[in-house]
Amino acid sequence: MANAAAPEPKENMGQPMPRIDGRLKVTGGARYPSDIRLKEPVYAALALSSIALGSISRFRLDAARAVAGVIDIFTHETLSDAIKEQVMMGQSEQAGYAASTIRPLQSASILHDGQIIAIVVADTFEAATEAARLVAPEYDARTPSATFGSDGVTIEEAAKISKKHEDPKIGDAEAALRTAEVKVDNRYSTPVQHHNPIELFTTSCIWDGPKLTIFEPSQTAHGLRFGVAQQLGMNPDDVHVVSSFIGGAFGSKGATTERTALIAAIAKKLDRPVKFVSSRADAFFVSTYRAETEQRVALAASRDGKLTALIHEGHEVTSRPDGYFVGGTDTTTRMYACPNISTKVSVVHADRKTPGFMRAPAEMPYMFVLESAMDELAETLGIDPVELRRINDTQIEPIKGLAFTSRSLMPCFDAAAAAFRWSERNRKPGAARDGDWLIGQGCATSCYPTMVAPATARVSLMPDGTAHVETAAQDVGTGTYTVVAQMAAERLGIDARHVKVTLGDSKLPPAPVSGGSNVTASVCSAVAKACDAINEKLRGSNSQNLAEQFRRLGVSELVEYAETVAPGASPEGIDQLYKGISALGGGPKLKDRIQYAFGAQFIEVAVHSRTREIRVRRMTGAFAAGRIMNTRTARSQLMGGMIGGIGSALLEATEIDRRYARYVNKNLADYEVPVNADIEALDVILVPETDDKVNAVGVKGVGELGIVGTAAAVANAVYNATGIRVRDLPIRLDALLT
Ligand code: MOS
Repeated sequence: MANAAAPEPKENMGQPMPRIDGRLKVTGGARYPSDIRLKEPVYAALALSSIALGSISRFRLDAARAVAGVIDIFTHETLSDAIKEQVMMGQSEQAGYAASTIRPLQSASILHDGQIIAIVVADTFEAATEAARLVAPEYDARTPSATFGSDGVTIEEAAKISKKHEDPKIGDAEAALRTAEVKVDNRYSTPVQHHNPIELFTTSCIWDGPKLTIFEPSQTAHGLRFGVAQQLGMNPDDVHVVSSFIGGAFGSKGATTERTALIAAIAKKLDRPVKFVSSRADAFFVSTYRAETEQRVALAASRDGKLTALIHEGHEVTSRPDGYFVGGTDTTTRMYACPNISTKVSVVHADRKTPGFMRAPAEMPYMFVLESAMDELAETLGIDPVELRRINDTQIEPIKGLAFTSRSLMPCFDAAAAAFRWSERNRKPGAARDGDWLIGQGCATSCYPTMVAPATARVSLMPDGTAHVETAAQDVGTGTYTVVAQMAAERLGIDARHVKVTLGDSKLPPAPVSGGSNVTASVCSAVAKACDAINEKLRGSNSQNLAEQFRRLGVSELVEYAETVAPGASPEGIDQLYKGISALGGGPKLKDRIQYAFGAQFIEVAVHSRTREIRVRRMTGAFAAGRIMNTRTARSQLMGGMIGGIGSALLEATEIDRRYARYVNKNLADYEVPVNADIEALDVILVPETDDKVNAVGVKGVGELGIVGTAAAVANAVYNATGIRVRDLPIRLDALLT
């Protein structure tokens, strides 16, 4: 039955079927990788560097070795042969799977705070943890460069790092800005953020002769299989990755990290299964993170509100050796009609760990800036912010003149504005009050590129009307098990409860990374194709009775294996998929069209007139993302994204001590995220949209859409409440003390 958590499906939306793995999860029956029982395992714990730059001159390990139960301690002196090769994902002609080229324990050198310097193995988790704390390194420390503005950082243009990155440009933006009737031109910043999924980062490795089995939560079972094979110089056929349940990922479990190969190498040396479960604090270093950015946006417009120029420049921090960047200007230049656009993305190399994916890696920070600037422009023009978006709305993106496959931005604004009662807003900053609280309202655009990757799936239909779908795709908590069952049921004309789904295992038909919000579209396309092939075989019989049809065909089951590439995607993507590479395509990267999902978010904040405490009182988001497979799981994804957006707006930041290039609040106890009490009223509206061009199943994906724009909507609401424009995230009360 429909309720707030399970919205009534509208046009082109699937039923709000409860998650088929929900019962297993709440009863403890879902076995996460670290729940897998190993035969006589040993436990590993990490010792991490307390300097950011330099080298280890020697270790004092006596105290650590003296802990009862300690079996061995591995350092660069004993494990330096472990990682043979580590190619970073997307950064070389060669197939790469890793989050970074930095290989800890392979030499004495330290390139960032929290680098793994030793791995302690013991009979118990507790002994390993205690001993890891007693590992005493001596360092030759050098002065590190921490971040923007630190001595010794170097700047490099993104376009020089990656051939795939072009800085979008059209017309003459600087000239248009100089002669503009109205303009805003400001600098903004976004902070370092770290992943804290509920399920920690774990790795269990078991060898059987030359065969390695890895239990690890991964957004790409196949990618991890090939990544570890590359690290260890193994035949990928000898590596098996199991990742059946994943307790949150958000990008943190996307690329192969150094730990997996190191744990595998130790298991081999000891000839024992090794289990590693990171501590909450170590999680800040085991995974990747979202790097800080500094950005400039200039907007120019004529008095009627039409944009005449957009300049967007971004600087992002990365490590010394790796040129990781997110480059959100591909997206910000496609949002509105504008004849003169210029952009540039650069990285700043500092003595830091290589950053990596975090929910809407590019769009979250870059759209915060664009959507803040749009609000500033609306204010300067005296035009309602919703109307400013309408004036500049376009069905053709301005850089290459390509048509959006579908774009429901204004229907989203209109639906959300009506539900939010935007028309009742007081436009004058600082004018609305509720007792001691200043009330403000703001809005912003949400968007996310629609990405699709090659995928494969095997579907088996039995004569009793049950089916089995097998694909290596992962369910990171988003509902993949459920929507795959729904897709198979729909195509085969059976009940979704009769579809068994097996996921998250590298022995299954390969599927892409659960990243870039692509898996529902990609995997459902493959499942649909396999089902269609089954239907093809069943055709020609008048009987509706499945059992009879199977008898007629003389088979006990019908099994079909399907491979899919999305329209416009290169067919070589399938070969790459069989090597564990997810050839994601789409968004602004296609030659003949552009594909995005859109949304609009409205937020009301209350700012205490004396303490300046900031509360989000209510938020309304309306989103259109093509076919919605399941209104319950889609709403849940969008709601989670919006709550993540509140974290980005008001709470999340890892503070760095610039003197030492080290993090200060590297523990969940000190790293703030929104909790239930921070979220009062949250409304998700699913706006119907049909798009048959994006892919075979018309799905755009909703995993990352909800976090984009939220922080700008909050900043814009804070401005409306107080008259203070905050351009640096997170917005804290000290920014509002005047
Ligand atoms: Mo996500 S940051 O695409 O895993």
